[in-house]
Amino acid sequence: MAKAAASPAFLVLVLLCVAAVGWAADDGAGLTKFKVYWHDVVAGPKPTAIRVAQAPSSNGSSTYFGAVVAIDDPLTSGPALSSAEVGRAQGSYTFADQKTIGLLMSMNFVFTAGEHNGSSLAIMGRNEVLSSVREMGIVGGTGKFRMAKGYAEARTVDSGAKSGKTIVEYTLFVKE
Ligand SMILES: *[C@@H]1O[C@H](CO)[C@@H](O)[C@H](O)[C@H]1NC(C)=O
Ligand SMILES: *[C@@H]1O[C@H](CO)[C@@H](O)[C@H](O)[C@H]1NC(C)=O
Repeated sequence: MAKAAASPAFLVLVLLCVAAVGWAADDGAGLTKFKVYWHDVVAGPKPTAIRVAQAPSSNGSSTYFGAVVAIDDPLTSGPALSSAEVGRAQGSYTFADQKTIGLLMSMNFVFTAGEHNGSSLAIMGRNEVLSSVREMGIVGGTGKFRMAKGYAEARTVDSGAKSGKTIVEYTLFVKE
């Protein structure tokens, strides 16, 4: 009798513990949420973003339509480039809009340190850089992110207009 009465209480306790752990790891909608900072260095001795193609008209256009930039950009845990590197954003962005600066981002976030070390996320989407928040799709992943889906929100921390070093905060919402 005593054993039968204790079991449901024990189960409730276990369920509460599992729920508490779950709440810490996701934002309540079954999504894991975390932030990284993306550093696009176009100037200086060690650029991480290099223009690899353009149309003859790209430079004459205020939107740089037709230019393509290859990137191997550091991803850090904090906004400063000197903060801990957790991975790289590798791929390209294309100036894909004739009316505004609108990029097609096509990149892997390759994690090389921290809790996601060894895994990657594939991100593809439109990045209208002058908007305060841009949403892009997370279309897949590897490692712990295998079969992942989700979305990223990008917010500019520093446009890099003077320094040639753009800093963007990426908040990632991942359904693993
Ligand atoms: C276009 O502008 C880029 C960046 O300022 C420069 O590197 C490139 O040489 C220019 N290309 C032409 C054809 O003017
Ligand atoms: C990341 O994972 C690799 C492969 O397991 C390992 O060699 C490396 O030391 C790890 N890096 C960090 C910073 O944890």
